Amino acid sequence: KSIKIIKNRSDIGAGTRGSDLGIDAIEIAAINEKNDYFNQFDFEDLETENESIYNKVTNSFAKRVKSVYEQCERLSTSVARNINEGNFPLVISGDHSSALGTISGIKAAHPNKRLGVVWIDAHADIHSPYTSPSGNIHGMPLAAALADDNLDCQINEVTGDTEKYWNAMKNIGVDGAKVLAQDVVYFGVRDTEEPEDKQIAKLGIKNYMVHEVRYRGLETCVNEVLDTMSNCDMIYISFDVDSMDCDLISYGTGTPVPKGFDQHEIIAIINQLLASKKVASVEFVEVNPLLDFKGNKMAETAFEVLDAVTKQLKEVL
Ligand code: ARG
Ligand code: MN
Ligand code: MN
Ligand code: MN
Repeated sequence: KSIKIIKNRSDIGAGTRGSDLGIDAIEIAAINEKNDYFNQFDFEDLETENESIYNKVTNSFAKRVKSVYEQCERLSTSVARNINEGNFPLVISGDHSSALGTISGIKAAHPNKRLGVVWIDAHADIHSPYTSPSGNIHGMPLAAALADDNLDCQINEVTGDTEKYWNAMKNIGVDGAKVLAQDVVYFGVRDTEEPEDKQIAKLGIKNYMVHEVRYRGLETCVNEVLDTMSNCDMIYISFDVDSMDCDLISYGTGTPVPKGFDQHEIIAIINQLLASKKVASVEFVEVNPLLDFKGNKMAETAFEVLDAVTKQLKEVL
């Protein structure tokens, strides 16, 4: 198998502009280190609709949902095609709504295989338009992948196009749920809202908190994850850079949160998962160089992770 980099420069699922520039910032980080990383691999550039962010959005519980839906479709199609061609999709996206596209693409390529999801993030991203406080769809991809709207905690009245395209999002790639709640685990989630807390408790999704990983040992925790996912045929790793400590990444992300992992911990988690040889795709999201107050530090840190993870990928593919 060979690595194929999928560049998905879309930021319309976020509340703040700029994560669409994350890929270019990471490439510049590589160039400044005289690392020819980005010349080593085949890549694909996806079409985007970032300009639609200029459309005024008023009172939407799923902002720009038609365009986010279409972007996820594009990503899903690309991921599925690459898997079918024997490539390993290494996805670099803008905002995290993209994860739904990648997950859908994996399932479209392998509808009968069971998928586990490892979600490394400060956020749970398990809102639906019915519960979201912001209407930003990067807070919703897991709910869409689980096809669970958490109506027990409904706050918002969802109608019209919002309802229509949200329902369409749940059917990208294959109809309905792509993953079972029992096959999802979080790492580093520490900034959630009440409807998310209730949903996580109800579904029994395990969250490996930063202090727990440090106290119990990273290897022990990841082994436990691989054990719980022993019935899964494939694993998808979603790496939101805000899982890292906000100071370490110089606030270069849309929704920074304190007390996160450092990059060495992230590398160790991902590389141990990769060693299982079950990983079908890894995705990097939410690098926003416009918010970085220390030059290009965020992207440099993301590149450090990307480079280390890629070395491990080359070993296991
Ligand atoms: N929970 C908040 C919201 O729904 C923040 C979500 C942040 N998500 C992300 N992928 N950065 O608006
Ligand atoms: Mn942007
Ligand atoms: Mn996040
Ligand atoms: Mn996220």
